[in-house]
Amino acid sequence: MCGIIGYIGLRKASEVLTEGLKRLEYRGYDSVGIAVVNNRQLEIKKDRGMVDEVSSALQFTTVEGNIGVGHTRWATNGVVCRENAHPHFNEKKTIVAVHNGVVENVSELRGMLEEKEYRFSSDTDSEIIPHLLEENHKTQPLLQAFMETAAQLKGSYAIVALSTEDTGERLLLARKNSPLIIGVGRGEMFCASDIPAMLPYTKTFVPLEEGDVAVLTRHGYKIFSPDGSEVERRQITVDWDAELAQKGGYPHFMLKEIFDQRHFINETIASDISSARQLIDEYEKIDVVACGTSYHAGMLLAYLLSEKGKISQAYIASDYQFIAKPGKKTLAIAISQSGETADVLQALRHAGDSRKIAITNTVGSTITRVSDETVYLNSGPEIGVAATKTFTSQLAIVSKLIYGKQRLEPLSGLIGKMLEKENQIKEIATGLAGKEHAFFIARGMNVPIAYEGSLKFKEITYIHSEAYPGGELKHGTLSLITEGVPVIALAPRDKALPKLFGNIKEVKARGGMVVSVTNDGEVEKESDYSVRIPEGLDPALYPFALVVPLQLLAYHVSVLKGINPDKPRNLAKSVTVE
Ligand code: AGP
Repeated sequence: MCGIIGYIGLRKASEVLTEGLKRLEYRGYDSVGIAVVNNRQLEIKKDRGMVDEVSSALQFTTVEGNIGVGHTRWATNGVVCRENAHPHFNEKKTIVAVHNGVVENVSELRGMLEEKEYRFSSDTDSEIIPHLLEENHKTQPLLQAFMETAAQLKGSYAIVALSTEDTGERLLLARKNSPLIIGVGRGEMFCASDIPAMLPYTKTFVPLEEGDVAVLTRHGYKIFSPDGSEVERRQITVDWDAELAQKGGYPHFMLKEIFDQRHFINETIASDISSARQLIDEYEKIDVVACGTSYHAGMLLAYLLSEKGKISQAYIASDYQFIAKPGKKTLAIAISQSGETADVLQALRHAGDSRKIAITNTVGSTITRVSDETVYLNSGPEIGVAATKTFTSQLAIVSKLIYGKQRLEPLSGLIGKMLEKENQIKEIATGLAGKEHAFFIARGMNVPIAYEGSLKFKEITYIHSEAYPGGELKHGTLSLITEGVPVIALAPRDKALPKLFGNIKEVKARGGMVVSVTNDGEVEKESDYSVRIPEGLDPALYPFALVVPLQLLAYHVSVLKGINPDKPRNLAKSVTVE
């Protein structure tokens, strides 16, 4: 969702904030702003638009001062406009705050403040925060007032605030159901919604926990639990290179991340799964919860667990609370790249007393703290909003849990071979860029990959797309297959192929355009375009061979249509609202 950054130290804060916002932009990109204290005065610059465009138009980095906050927005309350952009401030412009999350009791609090003649200049819930802090500060010191402010907010928040009237220069932080991480420097401190924003300056981080309030000065930090007592939180160190969060010569993060898969897959398959595997062995009933792309990896996991004789089902996390009745005999497995997806965290709350396993890419994320065991994807930071390498890593963890490591050793080579098809896929993309609809079909264990291909495609090309097990077309969707309508068929040679081949013929008979990913000569003959997967491939690896061309296809259609695949409209990388 929104991206937050804060800095206090000796550097020019406006530069640190602007650089951090660029690295956080994947979290939201409809408006952006910074506030820096310069000679005890707040200088605030903000507007609608992307970081590059707004920061250069408003000359962010000309602002002097060594303490400040920044924010990149993904609108929840209030339209996209300058007034609604963060940072928000009080009327006297002495208190400023940035916020990620949703304040649910906004009407009540705003009513109370308006009665006291506070005037609001935006439609956001977030603007409550500086005014409420001002009101609370009338009767108590700033830190206590900030703690009371946080306690009065219902809903979710990550907040960074500061006051120019504060005697000791400091940043005030609070988190509840929205990530906020402290970056520990020497003679300087940082905070941000996510680690990549701080990577150029430090590798040591302290993720705040639910309900924590923290104070950052140039020289260190203090963390308090909701009852006001000081607490220790675990420091983590990451070995990610700051370059990993850069494009490294590729035109987009998404393309870089697709190509990165060759390397990171080896890190993933080295990940320790032993405790998770032991836990899985102990349970007969296993619920898998996840959203979006991660849900597709979850579908494969549930399918493979069922094949092993478990009672397993994958649930869309946001619906889990309405349809599932987990109990002590259920093991819950949550898959989430970010580890912060609100729907997944809600599903885990619904899982109650059940034991829980988290599969995530994000060290120290909330999902790891509410689970009994964690398996890390080790994919490195993923910046493109469309998940690519983390999906492949999720598939690899799922496969390792079921088959063990040895069968996965050819993966890096296989992915490399599929990436060599890029030029051919570019050509196919030209045939698809002008289409209005696309359909993805597969059978059996490859159905989740058809769903994933379709999601990736619609997400970044804005072309309507749907996915089905091939047999389902004739139960309705075939009415939409007319001359030239593209159907992407995932058709590796396996026991389901004869049936899928029948479905492909049904499409051809109606003039549909068939794009296949296959190792079968007959399927190739029926296809308008075909991408070949290697002969003699272990069927356990088919999902990996199939997904890479689909990622490249979505990417190239997106680029041909002039869309920025890293920042598709209306979407954000980490969805921290339900
Ligand atoms: C994937 O391309 C999407 N951006 C989205 O579906 C994503 O997978 C979903 O929001 C879940 O995120 P998570 O893995 O961080 O929980």
